[in-house]
Amino acid sequence: MAWFLSNIRYVAWTALAVGALFLIYFAMGVAGYAFGDAAFWEAALRWSHVLVGIMWIGHLYYFNFTQIPNMPKIPDEQKPAIGKVIAPAALFWFRWGAMFTLITGLLLAWNQGYLLQALTLGAADDPSFAVGKHVLIGIGMWLAIVMWFNVWFIIWPNQQRALNIDNKFANLDAAAKAAHARTAMLLSRTNTFLSAPMLVAMTGASTLF
Ligand code: HEM
Repeated sequence: MAWFLSNIRYVAWTALAVGALFLIYFAMGVAGYAFGDAAFWEAALRWSHVLVGIMWIGHLYYFNFTQIPNMPKIPDEQKPAIGKVIAPAALFWFRWGAMFTLITGLLLAWNQGYLLQALTLGAADDPSFAVGKHVLIGIGMWLAIVMWFNVWFIIWPNQQRALNIDNKFANLDAAAKAAHARTAMLLSRTNTFLSAPMLVAMTGASTLF
């Protein structure tokens, strides 16, 4: 068993396969949905959306609650272990987690037939704002879209420069790198702040309405 558990690729791919079979068994075998049913795809999309959302927000919380507050306690000569190895790897899963959360979230709204209504915060409903679920999930979607934008267009470009990822920014001096690191940190904090109200909408939309 240790040979299996000590290889993250085996564990991750097997977990995904078992999860997918579990979903198919309950959706088709127990609940009786067919492959083409919207409800089957809603279940599949919800599962994958929450999985990749955890990948994203898990890394966001790692940066904000673990890595950033503890960096000052690490001796300077050991800091490259974080800056050169751990942080670039974490940023990979962080930004692609964000991308797939956005894609699965938009597909989930489209699959349920309310993408436009949600993105207009209920204004596209007739009468406007009559469907509370569309207003609430729309607010959550926009908060998360702002967070996704921050990841891809502010945090990631600034981290690339601050950490000189792939040696593309070797010409930057220490002051410039520190300024980029600070910008990335402030936007990462902003996303941590937005994550709590955003999740009220994500988790509440189908519970409250
Ligand atoms: C990036 C943009 C995002 C979009 C467009 C989006 C969209 C959606 C939509 C449309 C739903 C279905 C709501 C419903 O009909 O009940 C949903 C549910 C959900 N989302 Fe998101 N979402 C995004 C980001 C996130 C993030 C970052 C998380 C963090 C983990 C997240 C976690 C959830 C959860 C937990 C649910 C509830 C699933 C359920 O009740 O079965 N979403 N999202």
